[in-house]
Amino acid sequence: MGWPVMHSRSPLLHNYWFRQHGLAGTYVPLAIRPEGLPAALRALHPLGFAGANLTIPHKQHAMTLVDEVDPVAIRIGAISCVVVRSDGSLAGSNNDCYGFIHNLKQSEPRWRAGAGPAVVLGGGGGARAVCYGLLQEGAKEIRLLNRTLPRAKGIAAEFGGPIEALPWEYRHDALEGAAMVVNATSLGMTGQPALDLRLDKLPKSALAADIIYVPLETPFLAAARQRGNRTVNGLGMLLHQARPAWKAWFGIDTEVTAELRALMEKSTG
Ligand SMILES: NC(=O)c1ccc[n+]([C@@H]2O[C@H](COP(=O)([O-])OP(=O)(O)OC[C@H]3O[C@@H](n4cnc5c(N)ncnc54)[C@H](OP(=O)(O)O)[C@@H]3O)[C@@H](O)[C@H]2O)c1
Repeated sequence: MGWPVMHSRSPLLHNYWFRQHGLAGTYVPLAIRPEGLPAALRALHPLGFAGANLTIPHKQHAMTLVDEVDPVAIRIGAISCVVVRSDGSLAGSNNDCYGFIHNLKQSEPRWRAGAGPAVVLGGGGGARAVCYGLLQEGAKEIRLLNRTLPRAKGIAAEFGGPIEALPWEYRHDALEGAAMVVNATSLGMTGQPALDLRLDKLPKSALAADIIYVPLETPFLAAARQRGNRTVNGLGMLLHQARPAWKAWFGIDTEVTAELRALMEKSTG
């Protein structure tokens, strides 16, 4: 469910797993206006849905509409997945953090959150999921920079732990000595300006990650790759966040295979 939603690549992903597991079902995009969300969520059970994913702009509003929200989603402050239980009640969870971390682990098996300072750019839902995941994995220092500083400060205060919120203007200098840098803003997404980030202070050994997946390689990732940094794009985060959803909806363990990645890469072009 989203508004707009027809651009979503999720149907391609989930319908691949429906075919692979021989399950008689389908995943459809549901274009739901914000004011229609309460009724749409309550219609899932009578319509026979096992659940739904939520995207912009529903992730926060849905927290107040479902019957139960899991602790990770409460901490992140948003729901990305709804499970319809047999009695019709709705359970909300957030799998974005799982997706981000498991994509990193699959793409860069030697990656360790505690290897050195992480620089995270952003202060929205994506940045919250990234910071939460890095903390869970044992990050010892997170430098969080967002255009609207109070949002970054809010995350640092809420999450506790080693997050330092810094003004947006410091982003170039904040890269000094970093082991990884993550773009969790919407800058660099198709239709948006590129992220303005000078990489000269970023160690060549650092990992550069973007949570955007359209385009697959953002200008930020291209610049990092060209100067020799290892890079991870956002497609795998989308793929991996879908795995716990399948476990919750159908009790099925799914895999992010090379074939599935190739199929999705072809569609994101
Ligand atoms: N791969 C995945 O599975 C996945 C999952 C979630 C999100 N995403 C992607 O991640 C991106 C962010 O998503 P989100 O849900 O976090 O969005 P969001 O809550 O709307 O946050 C957008 C972020 O971008 C920043 N931003 C926007 N325009 C900017 C500008 N001109 N200059 C500086 N900062 C700017 C915002 O800063 P302010 O706080 O100052 O407004 C905010 O930090 C989107 O492209 C989304 O598609 C991908």
